[in-house]
Amino acid sequence: MSGDPSAGQGNHRLNTSVPHPARVYDVWLGGKDNYAADRAAAEAGQRAFPLVTQSVRSNRAFLARTVEYLAREAGIRQFLDIGTGLPSADNTHEVAQGVAPDSRVVYVDNDPVVMVHAQALLTGAEPGMTDYIEADLRDTQKILDGAARVLDFTRPVAVMLLAILHFIADDDHPYQITGALMDAVPPGSYLTVSHIAKDIYAAEMAAFAQGWNEQAAEKVTLRDRGEVSRFFAGLDLAEPGVVQISAWRPRSEEEAAAPAALWGGVARKPS
Ligand SMILES: C[S@@+](CC[C@H](N)C(=O)[O-])C[C@H]1O[C@@H](n2cnc3c(N)ncnc32)[C@H](O)[C@@H]1O
Repeated sequence: MSGDPSAGQGNHRLNTSVPHPARVYDVWLGGKDNYAADRAAAEAGQRAFPLVTQSVRSNRAFLARTVEYLAREAGIRQFLDIGTGLPSADNTHEVAQGVAPDSRVVYVDNDPVVMVHAQALLTGAEPGMTDYIEADLRDTQKILDGAARVLDFTRPVAVMLLAILHFIADDDHPYQITGALMDAVPPGSYLTVSHIAKDIYAAEMAAFAQGWNEQAAEKVTLRDRGEVSRFFAGLDLAEPGVVQISAWRPRSEEEAAAPAALWGGVARKPS
């Protein structure tokens, strides 16, 4: 899919001439599912924030650690992963089903390129069940209705919002969106969030966000630790709380020391 920036013209949903989050993220992770506009935006992002590649790798490691924690320690068997991204190492269903093969995972993304890859993912998901919904995070009802095909909403669900909420501006009510999702799941469910930071590597991240917002259709909003903590209001945070993601239960000294410009946490909906 790399190479031809005009590919996809005629499909109004697949505009390859502007950078898109999933594909720029794919560039930083060393993937091949991206176009010229994505690669240009990835380079510009790296100039503004030279640690961006390490930071996205830290986010993938955070994803793997949190899914493993949820499956192994919290006993979660259902995952609603919104803002899936293009397949990379340690996708949610692989980590969850590696711990508990009967885990069910519903992926949600608004990028049609992610959709194409998701269909390939679905074939490898037995004996747990994996499904995919093309939807926007702002359309929580569509997400919940679609997820009910695979997930049992009378049993705990882990809602995964990793590196996506910063694409929801304050005017689009990100706290209400998160609240609506958590209202739909029973006590004992979990919320996992990672979010790019306004107050880690602050000067570089300000330049990064400004450059991104000049080029991309989906703008980013940086949030500080207090603003990210608000997503967990009414929930019980698992230790160590809302922290720089590399400090969330690192498995090695290398993970703990990895640069990351994101806040993250995991919290349980109380009874
Ligand atoms: C930076 S990637 C993160 C991928 C993965 N969650 C991770 O943390 O490694 C953000 C993903 O969210 C998706 N996304 C961005 N805004 C979205 C929205 N409003 N609704 C649904 N998906 C969205 C993008 O298409 C992309 O796949």
